[in-house]
Amino acid sequence: MRQQIVAGNWKMNKGLEDGLELVKGILEKTEKPKGLIVIAPPFPLLREVGKMIKVRKYFHLGAQNCHHEEKGAFTGEVSTDMLQSVGTEYVIIGHSERREYFKEKPAMLAAKVNLTLSRGMRPIFCCGEPLHIREVDTHVGYVAKQLKSSLFHLKEEDFRKVVIAYEPIWAIGTGRTASAQQAQEMHHAIRVFIAKKYGKSVANDTTILYGGSCNAQNAAELFSQPDVDGGLIGGASLKADDFAVIIGALKG
Ligand code: PGA
Repeated sequence: MRQQIVAGNWKMNKGLEDGLELVKGILEKTEKPKGLIVIAPPFPLLREVGKMIKVRKYFHLGAQNCHHEEKGAFTGEVSTDMLQSVGTEYVIIGHSERREYFKEKPAMLAAKVNLTLSRGMRPIFCCGEPLHIREVDTHVGYVAKQLKSSLFHLKEEDFRKVVIAYEPIWAIGTGRTASAQQAQEMHHAIRVFIAKKYGKSVANDTTILYGGSCNAQNAAELFSQPDVDGGLIGGASLKADDFAVIIGALKG
């Protein structure tokens, strides 16, 4: 089912005390939202943040990553079983920072998607093009390939559980947002591409978030686009006031 979602990706920010302070602020400032809220803190905070947000049924717990193997000798890694055991409901997969700094490739991302789904959690699958691809106008094909290589092996019933986040890399953490029109064009193209594989009804039901310098000032315009179902928020999710404004911008 297509849902409106605002997801906060804290990245490698916040310790336990200031993280819980942030959650407290977000809870205080958020009246009944017009969609779902996902909070994705760093791994060590998952359990405590989860306990805090449990009091509101529209708040959900997300992780920023998972390992692509079930278990074993992978020092320092975190498995989907572990995430599931602390109440995680969403897992961000394929963020551009993971693709770039940790060299995560499409087959590995597909394995993460499979494991996440098999543990009853929903992937938030990130896609998006670098600047040089946008400049030569091949961004639609680039993103289509990312979806195809890591998601299109899924059966329809599993694909329906996936949330997609379109995050143009040139807009992440740069202060340079895609215009509402650029976001709409790409979200529409993604929907058309999904329709070709899974049919129109699945495409219409797919939640597609925008990410990349989305903030309290531009969220309402971005979310007002017909194919934009909310946002994956980095920097602005670290400030309770800003995050609450972004949540308030959901169109419902
Ligand atoms: P940003 O990050 O909002 O800080 O640009 C978005 C993201 O990386 O998910």
